[in-house]
Amino acid sequence: MSVVLNAPVFAEVPPAPFRPGPAGTHITIRGLTKYFAGWPLYENFDLDIPKGKIVSVFGPNGCGKSTLINMVAGLIPIDAGQILFDGKSLKDTKIGYVFQNYREAMFPWMRTIDNIAYPLKLEGRSKAEVDRRMAELVASFDVKFDLNRFPYELSGGQQQTASIMRALAPGPEVLFLDEPFSALDFEMTLFIREKLQEVFLQTGTTMLLVSHDLEEAVYLADEVLLLTKRPTRVAEILRYEDPRPRTVETLSTDSFVRTKKLSLEIFQREVRR
Ligand SMILES: Nc1ncnc2c1ncn2[C@@H]1O[C@H](COP(=O)(O)OP(=O)(O)OP(=O)(O)O)[C@@H](O)[C@H]1O
Ligand SMILES: [Mg+2]
Repeated sequence: MSVVLNAPVFAEVPPAPFRPGPAGTHITIRGLTKYFAGWPLYENFDLDIPKGKIVSVFGPNGCGKSTLINMVAGLIPIDAGQILFDGKSLKDTKIGYVFQNYREAMFPWMRTIDNIAYPLKLEGRSKAEVDRRMAELVASFDVKFDLNRFPYELSGGQQQTASIMRALAPGPEVLFLDEPFSALDFEMTLFIREKLQEVFLQTGTTMLLVSHDLEEAVYLADEVLLLTKRPTRVAEILRYEDPRPRTVETLSTDSFVRTKKLSLEIFQREVRR
C-alpha cells in the first residue's frame, strides 16, 4: 500500500462566502492555497491590493513572492481560493507583466518596435491605432534609442525599458513586475525606476512589484507588503505616503527612514522566527 504524506485535500472544504475588500480595493485574494510537492506555500491566504497604488512585495528568500504575483497574474495555477479584480475574474481583466530576465522576455526575431506593438496587434487593433499608441508610449517614455533595432542590439536598460513599454502598451489595469531591476546596473536601475514612477503618475496603473532591494521597495511603494517565511502569511503591511514624485531627497525624509527601518525589523524578525 502506498501512503502519500502531506497530500492536501481541497475538495471537501465548501467555499466560504466571498468577502469583499474595503473601498478602494482592486485585487481581492481569498482563501488562496498553493502546495508544491505536498508542502504548503500558501494556505487560506487573504489579501486586498488597493487600486491605483504601487504595492511592493518584500520577504525572505523563497517565501513565495514570485509565486504570489504569478498566481495573481494567472501564470501559475492555484490549488484553491479566489482572486478577483474589481469583482471581475482574470479573463475579464487586462494585465501587463514585466519579467526579471529581459533577455528572454522579447522575441529575438522581431524588431523592438514590433515587440512592443505585439500585444496591440494581438488585440486586433488597426494599424492607425497601433501607430497612435506607439507614438504615445515613445513620448511618455522619452525614448532616446532606436526602436527599429533588434532587442539584442540594445543595452540591458534599453531592453527592460522596451519590456515595460510592451507591458503597458495595451493600457493594463494591473502591472506585475518581478524584480524588474535586478539584472540591470545601478545607473540603469535608477533610470528605469524613475521612468516607472513617471508612468505611474501619468496612468495611475495598479502595480504589484517584487523587489529584493528594501530601499527601492519602499521608495516606489504606497504599501510595503511584508511576507513571512513559508507557509507564507502577511507579516505586516506598511503604508508609506510621502508625496510623488519621490526624489533623492525623499531618501532622507523621516517617514522614508522610519518605514525602511520598520520594514527591516519586521523582515529580520520573520527570518529569525
Ligand atoms: N515549480 C515548483 N515546484 C516546486 N517548488 C517550487 C516551485 N516553484 C517554487 N517552488 C518553491 O516555492 C517556494 C517559493 O518560491 P518563489 O520563487 O515564489 O519564492 P521567492 O520569494 O520569489 O524567492 P526569491 O526571493 O528567491 O525570488 C520556494 O521554496 C521554491 O523552492
Ligand atoms: Mg522570486
